[in-house]
Amino acid sequence: MTTPKLTLADSAATKLAAETLVIGTVEGSDGPELAQGTNELAAAFDGNLTETLSLLGAKGKAEEVVRVPASGSIRANVLLAVGLGKRDADGEIPAESVRRAAGVAARSLNGVSHAANTLSALDLSATVQGTVMGAYSYTRYKSQAGEDPVAKVDLLVPDAKSDGAKSALKGATAIGEAVNTARDLINTPPNDLPPAAMAERAAELGRAAGLEVETLDEDELRKHGYGGILGVGAGSSRPPRLVRLRHKGPKGARKVALVGKGVTFDTGGISLKPASGMEEMTSDMSGAAAVIATVVLAAKLNYPLDITATVPMAENMPSGTAYRPGDVLRMYGGRTVEVLNTDAEGRLILADAITRACEDEPEYLIEASTLTGAQLVALGKRTPGVMGSEQFRDRVAALSRATGEGGWAMPLPEELRGDLDSKLADLTNVTGQRWGGMLVAGHFLSEFVTGQTAWAHIDVAGPAYNSNSPWGYTPKGGTGVPVRTMAAALADIAENG
Ligand code: BES
Ligand code: MN
Ligand code: ZN
Repeated sequence: MTTPKLTLADSAATKLAAETLVIGTVEGSDGPELAQGTNELAAAFDGNLTETLSLLGAKGKAEEVVRVPASGSIRANVLLAVGLGKRDADGEIPAESVRRAAGVAARSLNGVSHAANTLSALDLSATVQGTVMGAYSYTRYKSQAGEDPVAKVDLLVPDAKSDGAKSALKGATAIGEAVNTARDLINTPPNDLPPAAMAERAAELGRAAGLEVETLDEDELRKHGYGGILGVGAGSSRPPRLVRLRHKGPKGARKVALVGKGVTFDTGGISLKPASGMEEMTSDMSGAAAVIATVVLAAKLNYPLDITATVPMAENMPSGTAYRPGDVLRMYGGRTVEVLNTDAEGRLILADAITRACEDEPEYLIEASTLTGAQLVALGKRTPGVMGSEQFRDRVAALSRATGEGGWAMPLPEELRGDLDSKLADLTNVTGQRWGGMLVAGHFLSEFVTGQTAWAHIDVAGPAYNSNSPWGYTPKGGTGVPVRTMAAALADIAENG
C-alpha cells in the first residue's frame, strides 16, 4: 500500500499545474451538469464544456469516466470528468457519491504522476477518503510491475490554509490508510498468513502505533482454557493465537472492546466446504484485520477512549488432529459447546474472545466477522448485517450508513434461540434448520456477552471481500469493511458517550 501525496490548494482550477484535472459531473434531467467548484473552468472552455462532455457520451452517472483533451484551455493537459450520479431529494450531492467518484477517479489515474482534483470543493473528507482507498493496489506477488497508482494529487478547496481543512485532510487520510491496512492483511494469501504470522503482523502494527500488545500462543491458550480457539485450530499444523491490542485513553475514559474473527483460512474442517470458491476463504480473517486496523487508527488519531482489541486467530483445517462433529468443547470461562458442524467455527473462536473481552467490563463491545453465508442470502454482497443490543445496534447501523458502508440492523428473534439447546452440553454451535442462519449465529454470540456491556455484532461475510470488478473506491479482493463503521462508532462514543 502506498498513499498518494495529497496537498491542499486554493488556486483556480484552470491554473493548477497538473497532468490531469479531475472534475465532477452530475446526472441532470437533460444530460450532464458540472458539479460545483468548476465555474472558471466552464468559462475557460468558452461555455462549451457540458456540450463537449455530452458529445463524448457523458451522462453524469456514477462510475462514469470521460476524458477531454484540454488543448491549452487550462493548464492541465487532460480533463477527467467523473460521474457523481443524481442529486438527492434535497438537491444535494451525497458524501458517498463524492467518495465513490473520487475512488473512480483515483483508479483512472493509474500511471499519472501528478493530478489535481476539484471534487474536494464539494466534500474534502470524502474526496480524500475516496482517493486514498481508490488508489490502493496490492502487487506483492506480481513479478512484473503494472502502472503505478497516482503519486501526487492537489486538492482544490476554498480554505486550503484553514485548520479545518488541514485536520479534515489528516483525519480522512488516516481512515483511508486504516482501510488499506486491513486490505493488505486480507489480500495476503493464506500460505503466507498462518495465525502466528498474522499475530506477529498485528503486534508490529500495534507496537508502531504505541499500543500495548499481548500475544497468547498455543501453550498459553491451553493454560487458560481457550477451548473454542484450540478446538478450531486443532486440525492445522499451524497453531492458533490470541492477540490483544490496547489503546490507553486519558484517565476516566470510556472502555470499548473490539473483537474480530481471524480464521486465516476456512476449509470448513471435517465438515469440508465444496471446492468451488473455497479460495475466497482467504478472507475469513477480515473481521480481525478490520479490528486491528481500527485500534491502530484510534491510536494514531488519539481517540480519548480506552480501547482493547481481542483478536482470535486460527486455521480451520481437516486432518487427523482436527476437531470433529460430535466433539464437546469447553470454552474459555467454562461453558461447553457441542460441535455439530466444524464449519461453524467462527462463533467458537469468537465466543472465547468475547468472554475474555467482557472480563474487562467494557461499556461497549463491537465485534466484526465474516460469520455466515446466510448474511449474503439476506442482504447481498455489499450490506453488512448488524445485530446486538437494540439501541447500540441501531446506533452502529446508522453510523455505518453515514460512512457509506451501509450496515443494516437485523433482529435476534426470541424463537430462534431455543434451537441452540444441546442435550449433551450447554449449547450446540448450529441448529438443525437453515432459516435465519445469520440471526442464529448472532444468538450464539449473545450467550457470551456478559454484564452491562452494550454490544454490536457486524456480519460482513459478503461486504468484506469483492470477488468481482472494482467499483467506486472498492478494489477487487479485501475491501476493509467495516473499518469505517467501527471508526465512526468510536468517534461517536468519544463525542457523545
Ligand atoms: N466463513 C464462513 C462464512 C462465509 C461464507 C464467509 C461465505 C464468507 C462467504 C463461516 O465460517 C461458515 O462456514 N459458516 C457456515 C455456518 C453454517 C455451517 C451454520 C455457513 O454460513 O454456511
Ligand atoms: Mn466456516
Ligand atoms: Zn469461517
